[in-house]
Amino acid sequence: MVARIALRPFLRVLNRARRTRSWEELKSLLVDRIFPVRTSGSKDPNPLPPRLFQMATGYWISQAIYVAAKLGIADLLEDGPQSSAMLAAATQSDAPSLYRLLRALSSIGVLSQVDGDRFSLSRLGSPLRSNVPGSLRAIVITIGEIHYQACGELLHSVQTGAPVFNQAFGTNLFEYLQQNTEAAGAFNRGMTNLACLLAHAVVLAYDFSGITSIVDVGGGEGELLTKILELYPETSGIVFDLGNTFGSSERTVSTAERCSYVAGNFFDSVPEKADAYLLCGVIHDWSDDRAVVILKNCRKAMAQNGRVLILEMIVPTARSASFSKILDLNMMVMNGGRERTKSEFHALLAAADLRVTRIVSTLAPQSIIEAIPK
Ligand SMILES: C[S@@+](CC[C@H](N)C(=O)[O-])C[C@H]1O[C@@H](n2cnc3c(N)ncnc32)[C@H](O)[C@@H]1O
Repeated sequence: MVARIALRPFLRVLNRARRTRSWEELKSLLVDRIFPVRTSGSKDPNPLPPRLFQMATGYWISQAIYVAAKLGIADLLEDGPQSSAMLAAATQSDAPSLYRLLRALSSIGVLSQVDGDRFSLSRLGSPLRSNVPGSLRAIVITIGEIHYQACGELLHSVQTGAPVFNQAFGTNLFEYLQQNTEAAGAFNRGMTNLACLLAHAVVLAYDFSGITSIVDVGGGEGELLTKILELYPETSGIVFDLGNTFGSSERTVSTAERCSYVAGNFFDSVPEKADAYLLCGVIHDWSDDRAVVILKNCRKAMAQNGRVLILEMIVPTARSASFSKILDLNMMVMNGGRERTKSEFHALLAAADLRVTRIVSTLAPQSIIEAIPK
C-alpha cells in the first residue's frame, strides 16, 4: 500500500500511544500536519523590501533563531512571559542587544512581544524548547554552528564540485565529529531531533510486521530503531554507527534487551543476516560512488529475504518548489552528498544489485524507498 498512513500500523501506533509517553509526540506530529503554523500577516507600516533582498538576507533570521536556541530563551519562557532584562540576566547577555534580538524574533512570529519589554513563546517558536516532543533546539544549534560555516563556502563547492566542509574545518565532516566531542554531541542530538519527528511518520506509514531483525545503518543515537522496536515486540535490532553516537543514547527498558549498539565502518561491512537494513538520512550524505559501497555492503550482509529501507526526501522532477532542492545544497557543501530523484534512487540501487519494490510516502518530507535483491 502506498500511503502516508497505513491502517494496520496506524492502529498499532494509536494503541501503543494511548499507553505511553509517545501520545504527546504523536499528537504534536498530527497537529502540525493538520493545522500547520501560519504566521499572521504583519502590520508593518514600512513597505517591504524586494523579495529577492529578503531572501538574500535569510541568514540574518537563521542566525537570530540560532542565538535564541543557544541561549536557551525558549526554555526560560516555558512558564510564561519574561522581561528582556530578566532574560539577559539569566543568559549573561547584554540587555539592550538581547531586547533587539527578541523584538526581531517577535516580528517574524518566533516569539510574541506581550508588551513593551516582555516576551512570550509562540507556537512557532515552541520547538526551540529542549525537552519537548518535536524539539528542534539541538538541530538549530548544530545548523547555526557547523552547517552555517560550511555554507559560507558554497561558491567554492559550486565552482569546483568539491565539498567545502574541509575548507572551513580542516577535515571532513565525520572525522571532525570524531575529533570534537562537543560538536558531535550537538550534531548527534540534532539528528535525533529530526529522527524523533520522522519516526512516528515512518511507523504510521510502513508495516514492519514479519520483520524479526533490523540493522539501523548509521543509526546515530538509535531513536528511530527504538521507536520501531517499541511497537514491534517480536523484533530485535542493532544500531550500527561509528561509535561516537552511542554515549548519549537513551534506551527504554522495554527495548533495551532487544536493541544492541555495534560500532563499525559501513564502508567495510555491516552486521549480517538481518531482515531489514534501515538507512535514515545516510545515503544523502554521500556521492553516488560512496553510497553504492554502503548499499553493496547491505546487499552482501542481508538475510535471504532481506530488504533495505532508505528514508530520504525525493527530489521532484517537476519544476516545482521543494525543500529537497535546497537541502541538496547543504549536502553538497557538507560532505559531497546529494538529494536524489526517483530515477536516481532506482539507478543507485541497481548499481548495488538491488531493485526498488515500492516508494512509500509519509507524513514527513521523507519517503521510504524499499528495495530487495535483484
Ligand atoms: C546524518 S546522520 C543520520 C543519523 C541517523 N540515521 C538519524 O537519522 O538520526 C549520519 C550518520 O552516519 C554515521 N556515519 C558516518 N560515517 C559512517 C561510517 N563510515 N560508518 C558508520 N556510520 C557512519 C554518522 O556517525 C551519523 O550518525
